[in-house]
Amino acid sequence: MGRVKQDFVFHRDFKKEYPIITHGEGVYLFDDTGKKFLDACSGAVAANLGHGIASIGDAMAEQAKKAAFVHTMRFETKALHELAEKIGIMAPGYLNKVYFTTGGSEANESAMKLARQYHRDAGRPQKHIVIGRWQSYHGNTIGSLSAGGDVKRRHAYTPNLLNYAHVYSPYCHRCPYGREQDDCLTKQNWTCVADIERTILELGPENVSAFIAEAIVGSQQGAVPPPPGYFEKIRELCDRYQIILILDEVMTGFGRTGTHFATEQLGIEPDIITFGKGVSAGYAPLAGMIVHERLIDGLIQNSDGKFIHGYTYSGHPVAVAAGLAALEVYESDNVLENVNEQGNYLVGLLLELKQKHTCISDVRGRGLLIGIELVKDREQDLLFKPSEKAAETINSIAMELGAVFYPGTGSIDSINGEHLIISPPLNVKKTDIDEIVRILDESLSIFKSQLRKDETVEIAK
Ligand SMILES: Cc1ncc(COP(=O)(O)O)c(C=O)c1O
Repeated sequence: MGRVKQDFVFHRDFKKEYPIITHGEGVYLFDDTGKKFLDACSGAVAANLGHGIASIGDAMAEQAKKAAFVHTMRFETKALHELAEKIGIMAPGYLNKVYFTTGGSEANESAMKLARQYHRDAGRPQKHIVIGRWQSYHGNTIGSLSAGGDVKRRHAYTPNLLNYAHVYSPYCHRCPYGREQDDCLTKQNWTCVADIERTILELGPENVSAFIAEAIVGSQQGAVPPPPGYFEKIRELCDRYQIILILDEVMTGFGRTGTHFATEQLGIEPDIITFGKGVSAGYAPLAGMIVHERLIDGLIQNSDGKFIHGYTYSGHPVAVAAGLAALEVYESDNVLENVNEQGNYLVGLLLELKQKHTCISDVRGRGLLIGIELVKDREQDLLFKPSEKAAETINSIAMELGAVFYPGTGSIDSINGEHLIISPPLNVKKTDIDEIVRILDESLSIFKSQLRKDETVEIAK
C-alpha cells in the first residue's frame, strides 16, 4: 500500500546506499560514476583471482552451451569428475571424496549432517551435538549459525537455534582464560583445550557428534591463526571420544593462506574439510566438503551407500566449470608463490604502520589473509566502544579514498573488539600492496582526526 515502486532490491541495509558496479579488472572494481575501488578484501575473501578473467567466463559459457543443468540424483558430468579429482588430489591424506554445494553455509550444514548420519548408522544413535567456538563463523543457515559463535548474528534467532555447545577459541593476543601463550606452550597445559574436554564430558561423549572450527578464524576475529600444537590436541580429543573433526576452510582454502589448504600448516588430518569462496574465485556460487575415506566406508557399510541429503544445485555444471577454470589459473599463474611473497611484504608494511598508528594493536594472519586489531590507544589498551563503529567507519573512509577492506566487530568477546581484514586477490602485485597500505594509512589518520574532533565536542558539552 502506498509505496512508489522504484527500487525492488531487498538491500543488506535499507539505510545505506550502494555504489553500482559496472565492471572489474584485475584488483579493481569500477562503478557507474567511473569511480574505482581497489578490492583489498576480494569482496568477502572470495574473488581470489580478481576480476575480468576471460578464460573462466568462457569455460562457464562453454559448459552452459553443452549442458546447463543435470540432477546429481540421476546424472553426473565430466566437469564434476574433473573438479572433484583436482580437489581430492590437492587435499591432504585420506580426504578423497568431494561433495559440492552452492555456498559455505550449506557446506557446513552438509558436514554436520554427515557426521550425525555416520554415527547413527554405526550404532551410536545418541551422538548429535556439535561443539563450535565463540567468535567463529560458519554461515547463516540455522544449523551453521547454531555452530557459529557470533552473538550479534545469533541473538535475533536464539529461540530457533539448535542446542549446540561452544568453547572459546585460542585468541592468544587476548586469551579469554587470561593465560600467556608462552606459558601454555612451555608447560603444555592449555586451559582452552582442557575446557573442550570438560565440555565433552559434561555433555557426555556419547552425545557429541562433531567439533567444528575454522582453520584460521576469519570474519569474526580478523585472521587469527591457532597457536602451534592446538589442533594436534583437538585431534587427540576427537579420536579419544569418537568425535568427527570438521575444519572449516571456506575462507582459508585454495591458497589464501599460502598453502592449498591451511590444514597443511596445522599438522593434522581432519575428518572433513569444508570449502567455498576461493574454489571458483567468486565466479560462480560453489562450495562443498572433502570427506575422509573412513566416513565413506561407513556410508557404504552401514547406510546402503547413501547420504540422506542433497541440493538441487549440488555440482551444478556451470559452477563446476568455473571451479575447474579457476584452479587452472591458480596453477598457471603460480599463485601460491605470489601469496607468500606478497603476504610477507604486506605484513612488513603493516608492522611499520603499527609503529606510526597507536590504534593498531596487533597484526596477524597467514599468507594473504591478514588482520589488524584496532584499539583507541595501544599503550593504555583502551578499546573502542562498539557504538563508535571504528572498523566500519575506517572502511567507509577507505572506500571514499578508493579501497575496500573487510571490517569486523566483536573479535574479543563478540561485543568488543574491532578489526579489519586485508585479503586482496592472490595474484595481487607489489604496487597494489603499496597502494592498499597507503590508503589504509591515510584512512587511519583521517579517522583519528575525526575522533579527536568528536571527543572535543563531547568534553565541551
Ligand atoms: C569460515 C566461513 N565459513 C562459512 C561461511 C559461509 O559461507 P557462505 O556465505 O558462502 O554461505 C563463511 C562466509 O563468510 C566463512 O567465512
